Amino acid sequence: MTSQFLSNCSTDSLAQAAAQLQAGSLVAIPTETVYGLGADACNEKAVARIYEVKGRPSDHPLIVHIADMQDVATWASDVPTYAISLARDFWPGPMTLVLPRSDVAKDFITGGQATVALRVPAHSLALGLLKEFKKIGGLGIAAPSANRFGHISPTTAIAVQEEIGEYLSSQDLILDGGPALVGVESTIIDCTHDLPRILRPGAITAEMIHESTGLEVEENIPSEIRVSGSLENHYSPKAHVILDAMAEPGEGFIAVATITTPAGAIRLASPKSVEDYARVLYEALRLGDSQGLEKIAVIQPSGDGLAVAIRDRLQRASRGR
Ligand code: TXA
Ligand code: MG
Repeated sequence: MTSQFLSNCSTDSLAQAAAQLQAGSLVAIPTETVYGLGADACNEKAVARIYEVKGRPSDHPLIVHIADMQDVATWASDVPTYAISLARDFWPGPMTLVLPRSDVAKDFITGGQATVALRVPAHSLALGLLKEFKKIGGLGIAAPSANRFGHISPTTAIAVQEEIGEYLSSQDLILDGGPALVGVESTIIDCTHDLPRILRPGAITAEMIHESTGLEVEENIPSEIRVSGSLENHYSPKAHVILDAMAEPGEGFIAVATITTPAGAIRLASPKSVEDYARVLYEALRLGDSQGLEKIAVIQPSGDGLAVAIRDRLQRASRGR
């Protein structure tokens, strides 16, 4: 690991991190969903390094993180009224809006598409960094999840270091903002049609979107938009993930706390609620990998809300790499 690791980030160190972003370095940032790997969203070379470090195909679009709602006007045009309601109600927060792009959003951010994905994250360090970056003229921070392509997203700074540390340079930074509070990636909402469409489920649920906008919410519509997170085999640990089966002896086991561990199985997590489940899931899968387990049996949470996002990620994980 050659990059610098920053914990207890002060305003001074955030200003320093912003300066390094401006100079073209990468900065891994904590957010409330998962950790992101950030670059100046206007710097083509810096953005190209994100793809190198992730090992991700370069035609996949990136989310641009912005300091506040006002910055939408910089990156997007023709913003529908319902998107403004969503931004007011849920930003800063675990929600990404896909909007028609402005001239500022170049092909190297949007993957050549006519839309741009925007998010104001709800984490004091991420927001602090975005504000410092804005002070020195930065328009936004492009940041995919800070994992290698196809792996599970990191929810701690240590997991970021384990995933991509070896690919970072001595000028790059990893900011440590503690474990992510939500634990699964943001809800992505396509706002380019008459009705909002969920492209990726997350902590902002269909019910919440309906409440905010008064509109029907479209779900499970096959999208013409390329969403790498929607690749069938995304979000995979090394171990085989087996859904809704009891673990055999020697296998990993994840289920809510009320379900007892089968004899001989290795308990990786016992979440007490659906929120807790989302928060601990990726770390539990990583723990299974670090123990070299071949199989992890997972009993999926039932119900609506955040459980939909958890089942979405688990189903992809179970399809393997
Ligand atoms: O919670 C999150 O969203 C995290 C944190 C770091 O913000 N970020 C994240 O980024 O999950 P990433 O790149 O791993 O996943 C973002 C997804 C990708 O599947 C990408 O294809 C999709 O957003 N995306 C980006 N721009 C898009 C666009 N213009 N239209 C449709 N999908 C887009
Ligand atoms: Mg990702």
